[in-house]
Parts: sequence; structure tokens; C-alpha cells
Amino acid sequence: MEVVILSGKEEAGALAADAIEALFRAKPDGVLGLATGSSPLPIYDELARRHQEQGLSFTRAQGFALDEYVGLVSGHPQSYREVLRREFTERVDIDPDRVHAPDGTATDIGQACAAYEAAIKAAGGVDVQILGIGTDGHIGFNEPVSSLASRTRIKTLTEQTRQDNARFFDAAEEVPHHVVTQGLGTIMEARHILLIATGAQKAGAVQALVEGPVSALCPASVLQLHPHVTVLIDSASAGQLK
Ligand code: F6R
Repeated sequence: MEVVILSGKEEAGALAADAIEALFRAKPDGVLGLATGSSPLPIYDELARRHQEQGLSFTRAQGFALDEYVGLVSGHPQSYREVLRREFTERVDIDPDRVHAPDGTATDIGQACAAYEAAIKAAGGVDVQILGIGTDGHIGFNEPVSSLASRTRIKTLTEQTRQDNARFFDAAEEVPHHVVTQGLGTIMEARHILLIATGAQKAGAVQALVEGPVSALCPASVLQLHPHVTVLIDSASAGQLK
């Protein structure tokens, strides 16, 4: 695991964009794993800038979202499919039909999860996976005590995570209780993982990710077992590292 402490989120976004640009210049039909939330926004901003100003192209790329809320109507502004459309897909030249997200509206969620796993596999797997980290150490929405071998499935959000995400909704009660998320086993199959975390509120989770025991109590700690992880953090989120 490579840990890089940077001046702030713009620099972290630029370094992540460098890795993503290198992927698509070498492999134009590469597969990008897409996180939502606040952490990856500087990456999407920088990729959009490079597309507009430097011709970085995604026409043959595919993207797979990490997760999706269950229970939001299709087109809800906070559904992660919509967030990715606004923050990434619409700002670059990727084909929207090649950007996939788990189906949080499926009547048979189990079948939809299996189909999502199959689609990732059919695409050849994820080349570069963007990740954020929750204050409780979740990646995707694999909350503490998630199986380290888990696959895409429905999960219940902790109250902590619902509170953390309330800022995106008009009222805290509107944050769904359930999500469909790639499992830890799914995420671990990505060939390169870029985790971005900024701000003092992430310092405890970053410490457990980097220096703690590998434990389902901090799901992100499973990344210690991955051969190619880059952790991009600022000094505030690095504040509890030994
Ligand atoms: C979102 C996701 C979550 C977030 C995490 C941090 O797709 O998978 O794991 O990365 O909740 O969210 P932010 O970046 O908003 O602090």
C-alpha cells in the first residue's frame, strides 16, 4: 500500500487523474470503477478539465459504480446513477450506456446483484477503482463487520453513515436505509485501487485502514492485502498516523 500525503484535495485529485489518464492512454477500452460522495469530486473535476482542455478521451471506456441507494425513484437527484451522470458522464465523452450502476429499484435485488457481478466480469474486470472511505471505515457501503469476501448485495446503512450522508438530502429522514453495494471481495478484484480521503473527520478511519489490523471492524483494512493500492490523503486525514 502506497500512502501519499498531499497539500489538499486538488492535488489528490490531480494525482488520481494522472493514474486514470495513464490507464486510458495505454488502454482506451479500460474499465473505471466509480465512487460517489464528496471525496472523488476533485478527480471528476480534473478528468473533465483534461477532457475539455487536453483531449483526454473516454469514448471506449466503461464505468461501474460502486453502489446505489435502494428505494430512490429512478432519476432521483441523489441516486448515484444521477450523481455520476452530473459529476462525470455528462462532462466527458464517455458513452452513458457504458456507465453502469447497481439497480436499487429491482424487484429481485438478489438477481440484480448477480447480474451486476456478471457485467463487471464480462467487461474484463475493473482496471482502476476510485474509492472514498466512510468515517466508520466503510468502502463502498460495506459497513463494519461486512464479510471480507463479500460480493455485490444489499446492505443496511449504519446510523453514522446515514447522518454523514444527510447533507446531500433535504432532510435526514430522506436518507435511505438500504443500498446495493459491491462487496469487499468484488472491490479487491480491481487491478489498481485509488482511495482518496481528506479532512480531519477521516483521520481515525485512515489510521485503521493503514495501520490497524486487517479486520471486518474496519472494512477498508482489507486493502492492506491488495497488491496495488494508492492512498491519497491530506495532512488533516493523516493526522492520526503514527
Ligand atoms: C460512495 C461510497 C462511499 C463513500 C464514503 C465517503 O459511492 O462508496 O463509500 O466513498 O461514504 O463519502 P464522502 O466521500 O462523501 O465522505
